[in-house]
Amino acid sequence: MKKTIAVVCGGKSGEHEVSLRSAFYVYNNLDKKKYQVVILAIDKKGNWFFGRNFKDLVDTRDLLWKLKPHLEEIVLLKSKNGSQILSLKKKKIITKINIFFPLIHGTYGEDGCLQGFFELLDVPYVGANVIGSAVGMDKEVTKKILMIDKIPVTKFVIIKREDSLKEKEEKIKTAIKQFDFPLFIKPVSLGSSVGITKVCSKKDVKRAIKEAFQYDHKIIIEKFVKGREIECSVLGNDNPKASLPGEIKSVDFYSYKAKYLDEHEAKLLVPAPLDKKQIAQIQKLSIETFKALELKGMARIDCFLKSNGQLIVNEVNTIPGFTQISMYPKLWEVSGIKYSKLLDKLVQLAIESHNEKNKLRFSYN
Ligand SMILES: Nc1ncnc2c1ncn2[C@@H]1O[C@H](COP(=O)(O)OP(=O)(O)O)[C@@H](O)[C@H]1O
Ligand SMILES: [Mg+2]
Repeated sequence: MKKTIAVVCGGKSGEHEVSLRSAFYVYNNLDKKKYQVVILAIDKKGNWFFGRNFKDLVDTRDLLWKLKPHLEEIVLLKSKNGSQILSLKKKKIITKINIFFPLIHGTYGEDGCLQGFFELLDVPYVGANVIGSAVGMDKEVTKKILMIDKIPVTKFVIIKREDSLKEKEEKIKTAIKQFDFPLFIKPVSLGSSVGITKVCSKKDVKRAIKEAFQYDHKIIIEKFVKGREIECSVLGNDNPKASLPGEIKSVDFYSYKAKYLDEHEAKLLVPAPLDKKQIAQIQKLSIETFKALELKGMARIDCFLKSNGQLIVNEVNTIPGFTQISMYPKLWEVSGIKYSKLLDKLVQLAIESHNEKNKLRFSYN
């Protein structure tokens, strides 16, 4: 019998629409001869809905992809071998799910919350597990762990909401003194460049900090890195492989506008023009980063390549974009793994990871 995969999308997150788009391509490209594919869409309030078809759930007629109103609410239940979907209206089980494919970017989707839920349901799921997701979502924790493993990261200062006014001012002073302008000010755990400002003078610092604090209780001030922006896709569990690297060429920096609104703001080079030695170094660093952060399944590792050849890790994305023009699948395509095949591998890795975990002993005597 075919296994049922549930593509999970939308979500209570600033990246809701982007997620619906990624889910659309994943839904279309999962091999229907092998799998039965259903969709679980989460609205911006956190309610869950079920659809057998993408069109049942999502209105894609305009640029902003929206969940249709009056959908049927569902809940997920744990069952003996898998998870089941219960229709609240009909009060009956609709179908069973064997594998989850989470495609929710950012809060509640990429930060380990959803992954923890899948663990409790005891169902395999694609991508990083709880620890890797949670660590990868927090730019401070990511950097601290990488530093222990001697992996180069951007210099940074953290400001927390609970810091006193005096502490905040001291930290800002330190950052300016040590890093000089421009500075990057970001919320610690968002994506898609939401809440990020490149600050070029002292008078703009406070406004940028205020902006970042709208999205998070913890913000990061980073030293500007002058270099090429390189991204690398990693795939695997204990023995991960890295793709050919790609490059982002932005007018200013890779902002939300450049990512989703204005195609002239940034250009993606797939693969990036690099020599063999540089490619090997980037792949090695990406795999080391993947392992250091205990990632599983997939991740896109983003770094800077300075003109002196030095590589610096910027951040990791455990649920990267999955549209047909997204970097993660495109890099695999030029590295020899087609989109559909990539999805297949990710599903296999999810099953393997789940089986490994179930081999552990859960009682002691
Ligand atoms: N320290 C930095 N130096 C130079 N550019 C940066 C720095 N940090 C971020 N950027 C630019 O801002 C973009 C978004 O920052 P990033 O840390 O990747 O956040 P997000 O998680 O929102 O993608 C990057 O793609 C890059 O163009
Ligand atoms: Mg980024």
